[in-house]
Amino acid sequence: MLSGRGIRAQSLLSRALFPFFAGLFGRVSSILPFKAAPIMTDKTAPQVREGQATITFPSAEEVFYNPGICFAFSSVAVIRLYVKQLLAKDPTKAGKVNVMEALSASGLRSIRYAKEIPGLDKIVANDISKKAVETIRRNIINNGVEELVQPSHNDASMAMYLKRKPEDRFQIIDLDPYGSPTPFLDAAVQSTVDGGLLCVTCTDMAVLCGNATETCYTKYGAISLKAKSCHEIALRIVIACVESHANRYGRYIEPILSLSIDFYCRIFFRINTSQAMCKRTTSKLGHLYQCNGCETLSFQPLGQLVPNDNNGKNFKYKLVSGPPVNKHCSHCQNTHQVGGPIWIAPIHDQHFVSELLVSLDNHEYQTVERMKGMLTVAELPDVPLYYQQDRLCAMVKTGSGKMTVFRSALLNAGYRVSLSHANKMAIKTDAPAEFIWDMMRVWRKSNSQSDLKPGTTAFALMATTPKHEVSFETHTEANPDSRKLQLKRFQVNPERNWGPKSRASAGNFDDSEKRRQNQGKKRKQDPADPVAMELAEPRVDPKQIKTVKDQL
Ligand SMILES: C[S@@+](CC[C@H](N)C(=O)[O-])C[C@H]1O[C@@H](n2cnc3c(N)ncnc32)[C@H](O)[C@@H]1O
Ligand SMILES: [Zn+2]
Repeated sequence: MLSGRGIRAQSLLSRALFPFFAGLFGRVSSILPFKAAPIMTDKTAPQVREGQATITFPSAEEVFYNPGICFAFSSVAVIRLYVKQLLAKDPTKAGKVNVMEALSASGLRSIRYAKEIPGLDKIVANDISKKAVETIRRNIINNGVEELVQPSHNDASMAMYLKRKPEDRFQIIDLDPYGSPTPFLDAAVQSTVDGGLLCVTCTDMAVLCGNATETCYTKYGAISLKAKSCHEIALRIVIACVESHANRYGRYIEPILSLSIDFYCRIFFRINTSQAMCKRTTSKLGHLYQCNGCETLSFQPLGQLVPNDNNGKNFKYKLVSGPPVNKHCSHCQNTHQVGGPIWIAPIHDQHFVSELLVSLDNHEYQTVERMKGMLTVAELPDVPLYYQQDRLCAMVKTGSGKMTVFRSALLNAGYRVSLSHANKMAIKTDAPAEFIWDMMRVWRKSNSQSDLKPGTTAFALMATTPKHEVSFETHTEANPDSRKLQLKRFQVNPERNWGPKSRASAGNFDDSEKRRQNQGKKRKQDPADPVAMELAEPRVDPKQIKTVKDQL
């Protein structure tokens, strides 16, 4: 693409904890390059300003808020462009652009959308928590957006299912749950209009990045792997999952922007209806093989789409042959792990990303520099994952050279290469693994003389004589624009325990010390709120919330 990364966090307040709250935000605002500081009108009603919204929280209870979210990639920018394009293409949509924020907490997003995105006609800010809805109501009034934002107290899926009839559907649905969005996908893919926009957040990155492969399968229908490119694998697992939900109803998705941001994923999908397009899904999915030794990646598509005529307009669907690897890796003789299926088609709409980048110049967003950095990456659209440069060097037991050295070698050999928004050290290339390992062999031979131990992966890799010519001479395109311009793509964590926050709960407080002490203790389910507990992750008793370990 051109691409990106970002955040969110939860915080809370109670009268007793007011001093801590003030301290926390004082600290955050002093570190961070934008105004996220709370405005205290009185001790019982702390407020937070984000974008053009000013949010008041209850004093005696708490409602989810994550001060980190606005550091991340701004959904306001994406939805603003989407609405602008929609109305330019189809003026009859004017007056019908409605939004469902299904898990709204304080109403912050809905209020920002109302105040910062022209062309919206109605925004439903829904939450299952009574306290959250009271807060939403108050914030709507305080921000003067009663005309546009409507509070709703319902289970998210139920609120969406109630609007499943074609004439009732939403133009835009935003899912920002605790952890995984999967319980809400079935309703969301059915309640979005054709050409509608579905925005999905996942904060269960540990699950998506290979720490709990079985859990990943139960939630997303795919096996995650611990791989250096796990952040892009995570995106591709989520996209495949949303496509699978959509396909059940004759619908298909187009990911227009897929971002792995700090500790979460944020993906924007266009949803359409077409049985013919649904049949193409198998050719967009693939299993992933990762060598247990050298970590070489190979893909096994689930299906194949081949032209059925000379003008390329008609296609037929074919079964594929496989597997794509031998029982033992042809580079180092180790066995493979199998993951997926993951989405192997493009994860961004290049045209949309280019326009988004241009649109950033016309508006002030708190995170604009980072957004530009992410969108300027120009990732190879047809290469699903990436290698990590220092890991390639470690595999052959040699020091890591400059990124431009390896980029030059790949470009000099006629291959394409790009960075990735998801990993600082990523090398994304269409070069075959045979060339990549020859490149590393030649690099090691000229840079390291140490002995290798027989039986190791490095020994096995170096036992093969390189067959390709490899030139490390500096290539003119070795340093990509986003690096030359020193655009910011990644940030240093701005506070301790930066990451997804535990769910809102009365009496919650700065629990980092308790959390540390209680790590690993058994989580309990809460019988008091069966619907929320059934549908939201992680399943924990409010009293135990303090023990929930951040997921990254
Ligand atoms: C991560 S927070 C949302 C944060 C919010 N979007 C923001 O940007 O500040 C998740 C919210 O989902 C709500 N929730 C959990 N399960 C739900 C369900 N089944 N239906 C509706 N809301 C639910 C919680 O009460 C909580 O307020
Ligand atoms: Zn191998």
